[in-house]
Amino acid sequence: MATAFTINGTTASVEAGPDTPLLWVVREHLKLTGTKFGCGSGLCGACTVHVDGKAVRSCQTNLSEVAGKKVTTIEGLSPNSSHPLQKAWINEQVPQCGYCQSGQIMQAAELLAKNKKPSREQIVAHMDGNICRCGTYPRIVRAIERAAREG
Ligand code: FES
Ligand code: FES
Repeated sequence: MATAFTINGTTASVEAGPDTPLLWVVREHLKLTGTKFGCGSGLCGACTVHVDGKAVRSCQTNLSEVAGKKVTTIEGLSPNSSHPLQKAWINEQVPQCGYCQSGQIMQAAELLAKNKKPSREQIVAHMDGNICRCGTYPRIVRAIERAAREG
């Protein structure tokens, strides 16, 4: 059975079971491998994508839940890596191993889309569920603050 939705601005129709995790649809069917598998249990945030602008854990979102919706992955956040967060991530040299970073950026992008000037406390609270085993948290916060400042 095929499920149709929009992925990064283009229409996709994927043949897979309705309960297939969106993470596998994105990575295996659509070959968009920027979204990472971390825990598979909704606990780390490495798999974060947007569904209709809302940050969701794609490992906990079934294909059937995105029918007719707009899915955005890190590959679709901006046409040429020009999103303020992507520029700030480079300027602040945030990543260490990099594994968690797509999810971090997608989580942060949700925040800046609804709150252009978040306080440090709001940033920390919003990013709370995204784990970084390399401990890049201070740089993540700095990069979000820079993106909010420089737009
Ligand atoms: S892989 Fe989805 S939250 Fe960890
Ligand atoms: S940069 Fe390595 S897990 Fe975050």
